[in-house]
Amino acid sequence: MTRTPLIAGNWKMHKTRAEARAFLEAVRPRDGVDAAVCAPFTALAACLDAAGRVAVFAQNMHEAPNGAFTGEVSAPMLVEIGVHGVVVGHSERRQYFNETDRALQHKVPAALEAGLVPILCVGETEDEREAGDTERKLRHQVQEGLRDVPGERLGDVVIAYEPVWAIGTGKVATVEQATEMHQVVRATLDRVVAPRIGAEVAILYGGSVNAGNAASLFASEDLDGALVGGASLEPAGFWRIVAAAGGTAAR
Ligand code: PGA
Repeated sequence: MTRTPLIAGNWKMHKTRAEARAFLEAVRPRDGVDAAVCAPFTALAACLDAAGRVAVFAQNMHEAPNGAFTGEVSAPMLVEIGVHGVVVGHSERRQYFNETDRALQHKVPAALEAGLVPILCVGETEDEREAGDTERKLRHQVQEGLRDVPGERLGDVVIAYEPVWAIGTGKVATVEQATEMHQVVRATLDRVVAPRIGAEVAILYGGSVNAGNAASLFASEDLDGALVGGASLEPAGFWRIVAAAGGTAAR
């Protein structure tokens, strides 16, 4: 890894305020590795209180700053309470909540404009991989998601490559598979998004990362960290993944 690695725990629909606080009180940051938790909306404020050097991300946002969108939360609302970033386009949102590439075209620039770091998730399904459609899918998702991001802001976007077949299944991609797809994403960034931007964008791997497999994945220069679901729920396991990404224990 050449960029400062980022390990982001995606808690999904887990953790009350009290549980979030207890988690953050039990973790210790490391110098040289950025750590983040992606918390449910209701736990964001408690996380921000207890986070210290851990960044706090939301797991979704609406693309409009305000409006008649019952049940939604906007980027300026997240920024107002101090949230640092937001996950957009997670495969669970694409699958269960009809998140579309069209909405992401608006969400990514809206997040940046409000002052949030967007983590844009992309990844192929098992059927797409078996059909040899992985690279086309990734190129399409990257291109669509970043279409309306101003050139000077592209380097502020984080991409998470999360093969859908690896999420929550225990079937982690091999380091070769992950490396190859990170290279596809970087080449797409250079070719279709903006020349030489690929080197500036952090690309995380996600999908069944745990304390046992993290070090071997992070041996790849092309992985800039991980988006971790199930294994981010316990502080000890999450912290072993952060430690596997390098850096030194902070005092
Ligand atoms: P997992 O989830 O680590 O439990 O596979 C990853 C994710 O959904 O971001």
